[in-house]
Amino acid sequence: MTDRQAQTVRLADYRPPNYLIDHVDLTFELAARGTRVESSLTVRRNGSHDESLWLDGDELTLESIELDGKPLAAEQVEERDNGLSISGLPDRCTLTMVCRVDPVDNTKLDGLYQSSGNFCTQCEPEGFRRITFFPDRPDVLSRYRVTLIADKASCPVLLSNGNPVESRDLEDGRHLAVWDDPHPKPSYLFALVAGDLKSIHDQFTTASGRTIDLGIYVEPHNIDRCDHAMRSLIKSMAWDEETYGREYDLDVFNIVAVDDFNMGAMENKGLNIFNSKFILARSETATDHDYEGIESVVAHEYFHNWSGNRVTCRDWFQLSLKEGFTVFRDQEFSADMGSRAVKRIEEVNLLRQVQFPEDAGPQAHPVQPKEYEQINNFYTATVYNKGAEVVRMWHNLLGWETFRRGTDRYFERFDGQAVTIEDFIDTMAEQADFDTAQFRRWYDRAGTPIVHVKKRIEGNDLVVDFRQEIPAVAGQEDDAPFLIPLGIAAFDRDGKPVSLSGPDRNGEPQTTLVLSKTEESRRFTLPAGAGLPVLSLNRGFTAPVKVEHDYDATDLALLAGSDTDEFNRWDAYQRLVLLTLVERIHQAEEQGDWPESGLPEGLSAAFGRLLHSAVSTQGGADPRFVAECLTLPSENYIAEQFHQDVPVDAIHRARVELREQLANEWSQTLVLAFEKLAVDGEYRFDGVDVGRRALRAQVLGYLNALDHPAWRRLAVEQLEEADNMTERFNALTALSLRASDERDQALEAFAEEWKDDPLVMDKWLALRARMVEPDDAETLAALEAHPAFSIRNPNRVRALVGTFSRGNPVAFHASTGSGYRWVADKIIEIDGFNPQIAARMATVFSRWRRYDGGRADRMRGELERMLDRRDCSTDLAEIAGKALK
Ligand code: PHE
Ligand code: ZN
Repeated sequence: MTDRQAQTVRLADYRPPNYLIDHVDLTFELAARGTRVESSLTVRRNGSHDESLWLDGDELTLESIELDGKPLAAEQVEERDNGLSISGLPDRCTLTMVCRVDPVDNTKLDGLYQSSGNFCTQCEPEGFRRITFFPDRPDVLSRYRVTLIADKASCPVLLSNGNPVESRDLEDGRHLAVWDDPHPKPSYLFALVAGDLKSIHDQFTTASGRTIDLGIYVEPHNIDRCDHAMRSLIKSMAWDEETYGREYDLDVFNIVAVDDFNMGAMENKGLNIFNSKFILARSETATDHDYEGIESVVAHEYFHNWSGNRVTCRDWFQLSLKEGFTVFRDQEFSADMGSRAVKRIEEVNLLRQVQFPEDAGPQAHPVQPKEYEQINNFYTATVYNKGAEVVRMWHNLLGWETFRRGTDRYFERFDGQAVTIEDFIDTMAEQADFDTAQFRRWYDRAGTPIVHVKKRIEGNDLVVDFRQEIPAVAGQEDDAPFLIPLGIAAFDRDGKPVSLSGPDRNGEPQTTLVLSKTEESRRFTLPAGAGLPVLSLNRGFTAPVKVEHDYDATDLALLAGSDTDEFNRWDAYQRLVLLTLVERIHQAEEQGDWPESGLPEGLSAAFGRLLHSAVSTQGGADPRFVAECLTLPSENYIAEQFHQDVPVDAIHRARVELREQLANEWSQTLVLAFEKLAVDGEYRFDGVDVGRRALRAQVLGYLNALDHPAWRRLAVEQLEEADNMTERFNALTALSLRASDERDQALEAFAEEWKDDPLVMDKWLALRARMVEPDDAETLAALEAHPAFSIRNPNRVRALVGTFSRGNPVAFHASTGSGYRWVADKIIEIDGFNPQIAARMATVFSRWRRYDGGRADRMRGELERMLDRRDCSTDLAEIAGKALK
């Protein structure tokens, strides 16, 4: 088997640090090979004990170590392969060490590494130990002073955390800069950047009148792509003051964009480092979607300055304390900047398509995990997005003002400390008048609760029965009920709201029930003569649950047309589409061949109504919202409706067929909409134009689902005439839906035009990955060999391997196993140099048990192949091992 030793870390084993480090002084002499890192730590015994001091270290060469200026006695230091143990220390002392590291060889992109020749760092969660020996745990908070020395010609820019205090030239062509960060921070928030970068600058004046210098640093050729990120930063700073009363706390705030980055971005104190994908934009190269991503990630990292940095995590089991809260904060920021309903739809889409599956499979874990092998594997949709939903429930249950009182108290009480999810809960609970002990289950129990809802009439009363089903997942089996806030309303057959009066209701059409028992009924008095109403459930997605209710197509069409909650109007329409698709697939299974089925009347009418509403001149619907509605559920989400033997091919076929039928039926209106929604003038990133482009993209997609040269012509024209990437790429995407000469020419011309622009080529790679036909090994090989692809770069890997495995289910799940094999080959190769990315890619194999025998065997076989290697990383071993358990 393997050499690796899987070590489980448990929350229950947490012990406070036995030594604290109050001050860290670091001097870097930067070089691609043999960077010299001198560190001086002021060590203080924490409590009274005579244990030794543990310093983590990974791939470091220790050159010297001194205690209070004198060499340490050999018997005091024990060097192990993951750190140093130092014994016999006085209560207070200064340890000085010199280490060497080789940034140029750091392919894990963790610790100190190089991207495009520039030096940068990534320390969360455990990268600092790859820079110097240190108690690399978030509950050790220190003040840092950092001196950077590098060759001035190749590294004119020298940045670190905090405020700049000194900079000068040295005699040998090198120069030096000193940075001082007055705020105590854990090592995971340390950062440095040194390189040949250009920058744009602006200023922000805080509520209390302090002026902050803002800088965004990028490679010189990207200097014209920074303005949108700067605007986003300024908006974020203003929003956090207005909304949460949080002011920035240093004299400077810098952002650096790098091309090689494992994640989206990192909130290092005063020096955020970003994946360039989330900074760089100009209208010719970035889409509306990119602009939105930048705005929200810039905000997310900025908001961490309080939720994460000023108040940080005691240990990594508390990760959601900063991430769930910060995602909630960035979601609300984005909702305030754009369309709240559309933002909510996107959030729920992500939750349903990524988090629910994770929560139902072998990688399921609570929002506060209780154990891990590799913490890097826990930067998940559960910790981030379900964590945000749980904060949102606090917010909804308490109401904004009370919630805000709670967050004020939290920031005030724990400022400068490393705390736990319990601390957050306790602070919020002080404000609450509901059972917060039961609410806590949201943090402790994995799995998505299912709420079964039944309705009936008793005399004049509407009786609604609720039953909570808590699925057993990943070793958690108890089925005690959750505290579930469930938004609900009722509509009559004409789509008019029905007032629900009851003991706790005063005839408001909408209310939020707080469910707390496994089974419970609520009784409402209906207006005289009212029939059984249609229920609108979990309005606005008040709880991250699945709602099961026997809606029929008529109910759903009615809600899709008249629900007063926009989110639920979208949800009803999506459910209606799913109902149609699933029915077709079942029919095909029963009949043994593909059923002849017409387009259902209700669905067709709902589609037409939506489309008309977006182009009607008076009181028209928001085109952006309509675009969300018309987006058919993804094949992966359709697959979620099947618990075993996922009918991969039938899902694809049913979806393609429905798209064609809708397009056929409504082609006249689609063409009309395409014309009416045209956006004139210069590109602007604003709600109106973004909405029109989004719906126009959907419309063009439906038209090009049909095999018709006129509709291809529309796409080709848009591709050639548009001056912005959004419309150009939307046109290319529409063309990609069917084989044609126009398509092939367009793809080729696009690749030629953008061959020197990696972020644009990522879009092209992803589009190509979606188009690969099952068992087309040749195309996969060609894409892999394409000059735009590089297996070393995480963005390229996500674009090609990630999109092929997650966005092209028919080819990934080809029954021969060719898709699985290709992806597993890539994962094994990547595991040799970047285990974090390999492990992330491998989660796509987790739910192999849901597929038919042949596919399941092949997926399992690939997991075994990944795992049964002597050099399988602990990262990948945890994912594959859990999947196989
Ligand atoms: N803390 C970062 C964020 O959510 C994510 C991250 C984690 C980045 C680990 C790099 C490494 O904003
Ligand atoms: Zn974050």
